[in-house]
Amino acid sequence: MASMLSSTAYIAAKASLRTANPTRILAASYATSANVKKITVIGSGLMGAGIVQVAAQSGYHVNMVDLKEEFLAKGEKIITSSLKRVAKKKHGDDAAASKKFIDEVMSRISLSTDSNKAASESDLVVEAIVENIKTKQALFKALDEAAPKDAIFASNTSSLPIADIAAATNRKDKFAGLHFFNPVPQMKLVEIIRIPETSDEVFNTLSDVTKKMGKVPVACKDTPGFIVNRLLVPYMMESLRLVERGDASMQDVDTGMKLGAGYPMGPFELMDYVGLDTIKFITDGWYKSGKGLVGDKLVAPSPLLEKLVKEGHLGRKSGKGFYTYEGVGADKGKK
Ligand code: CAA
Repeated sequence: MASMLSSTAYIAAKASLRTANPTRILAASYATSANVKKITVIGSGLMGAGIVQVAAQSGYHVNMVDLKEEFLAKGEKIITSSLKRVAKKKHGDDAAASKKFIDEVMSRISLSTDSNKAASESDLVVEAIVENIKTKQALFKALDEAAPKDAIFASNTSSLPIADIAAATNRKDKFAGLHFFNPVPQMKLVEIIRIPETSDEVFNTLSDVTKKMGKVPVACKDTPGFIVNRLLVPYMMESLRLVERGDASMQDVDTGMKLGAGYPMGPFELMDYVGLDTIKFITDGWYKSGKGLVGDKLVAPSPLLEKLVKEGHLGRKSGKGFYTYEGVGADKGKK
């Protein structure tokens, strides 16, 4: 243990050994951000790729895992095009410096279709796969066997209870939610979701790791929507009701919130950006939970949203949502 801590930290840990709960002190031996060297991110979609990118940009070695090579190739493309934007800001027209920066970041990223193998050599595993509780539980159950016993597990879910996912493992004290925002390279916030069992050491480690990634962590209990979506999603649903009642046009609602409230995007632009299927999935889950935790009226199905999702108009990613976009993909401009 001494070799893993600085001498000051070692003396402090030894002193507190006399007074504190021994399990806490044992936990302190692994849970320092300095001990997180290798990270595995499972899922190479927009969120997963974004998390891989910011981790690699901050010096971590990262495994990016997905089910198929073709998904990994898409994730890699998301990362390289985002890195080009970052490089342009950092190095302007200096093509050689930009290339060096991008090559260095990419050299810290490994691709894999074997989640267990990747996790077996990781100190932190972040899951960003499909929002399906059974799929997530099955994944974490297998990872629990494969990963080192001290590795920390985190889920980037935006809508499922962290406790339900953690229940599939025998390491609830090392389990938390780590909720990033889209576009991950640009949005500064990360919500760290604690379940009652999450240890202080694990929380502090995640807090340090996200700070090292250049993010600002905030803490929240395992409550529906955590902080941001609890406020953002009902706001989106209210904007849909305004338009459905014919009170205002969606263009005027968007202009209103941008110019009157200083939001970077109006609610319809933002829903297109996040994905209409994602908004529907979150609200359906809350509505159907029947627990009234969020307020049924607020999250009741919206006919307009239902119609677009049914037609496959999912926002930017499908080229059409409330608005139409140039081509398909999150970075394409509005027509
Ligand atoms: N990679 C790297 N940098 C990116 C980027 C990406 N993918 N996307 C945008 N950026 C950077 C740009 O380089 C630019 O940086 P500088 O200002 O330093 O030059 C900056 O972001 C602004 O980008 P643009 O000029 O291209 O475009 P914009 O001014 O219209 O901003 C935006 C785009 C950042 C997306 C902005 O509109 C915005 O902040 N929108 C709100 C996004 C938001 O609310 N996200 C949260 C969604 S909710 C969620 O994610 C949680 C969930 O669970 C559903």
